[in-house]
Amino acid sequence: PLIKDLFGLTDLEADLCRVLNLEKAVVVPGDSDRSDLVKKEMGRAGARLLKQIVHPGQVVAVAGGTTVAAVAEMMTSSAVLKESTFVPARGGLGEAVELEANYIASLMAQKAGGKYRLMHVPEQLSKEAYQMLLREPHIQEVLDLVHSARIVVHGIGDAIAMASRRKASPALLRELKEKGAVGEAFGYYFNQEGEIIHRGRSIGLSLEDLKHVDATIAIAGGAGKAKAVAAVCPVSGRDTLITDEAAARAILDND
Ligand code: G3H
Repeated sequence: PLIKDLFGLTDLEADLCRVLNLEKAVVVPGDSDRSDLVKKEMGRAGARLLKQIVHPGQVVAVAGGTTVAAVAEMMTSSAVLKESTFVPARGGLGEAVELEANYIASLMAQKAGGKYRLMHVPEQLSKEAYQMLLREPHIQEVLDLVHSARIVVHGIGDAIAMASRRKASPALLRELKEKGAVGEAFGYYFNQEGEIIHRGRSIGLSLEDLKHVDATIAIAGGAGKAKAVAAVCPVSGRDTLITDEAAARAILDND
C-alpha cells in the first residue's frame, strides 16, 4: 500500500471508482500495451482478488482473452478454490483456442486445483444446428451451471481490435465502425454511450445476468483500451475493475 501511495495509484483508484461508478478499482503501475510484465501484474491482482472473494462451492464464470488468461496463469490453489467449479461465461467467440473462455476456464481450474465444465458450442453454426445443440441435455446441464455462477471474470477489448482478432466479416467491421463501436466484453460490442450495438449468437451469460451475480471482476489495461473501458464499465454495474496506470490516466484525462 505504501508504494502505491507513493506513485499516486491510490488516488487513481479512488478517481476511477467515482468516474466509472465502480465498487472497487485496482491499478497496477505501468502500461500493459508496452510491457507484458504489466499484464502479468494485472493477472496477479486478479488472482489475488478472486481468491479473497470466492466462497466454498461457488461457480466462477470466466470470459476469454489474453488478460483473463493472465489471471489463470497467476492462480494458485487454496482450500476454498478446490471446491470451486470454473466454467466459460459464454460459448465460442471465434478466437484462437488459447484465448477461448473454455480453455481459460480449464487452465484456471488446473492452477486453482478446482473443477471445471466446458461448453462446446461454436458461434459459427447455422441457426438450425445451433438450436439443435441447445436442446442437448449435456449442453443444458452446463448452461444451468453457467447460469448459477456467482462470480464473473471478464476482459474488455477495443471493439475494432476484437472484431478483427475474431476474423469478423468486412460487413460486420463496417457496421461496427459506422455505429461507433468502441468497446467489447464477452461478445457484446458497445458504443461510447455504453449501448449494445452488436452481439454474436454465442450462448451463456448475458449482460442482464451480470446484474444478478455477487461479483464481477473486469480486467483490462493499456492506454489503448481507455475508451473501451470507459464505455463498458458503467454498463456492467457496480463491480471491480483491475487495470493499469496507463489506462487509468487516459480514462481520467478523457473524462
Ligand atoms: O474477450 C476478450 C477481451 O474483451 C479482451 O481480450 O484481454 O486479449 O485484450 P484481451
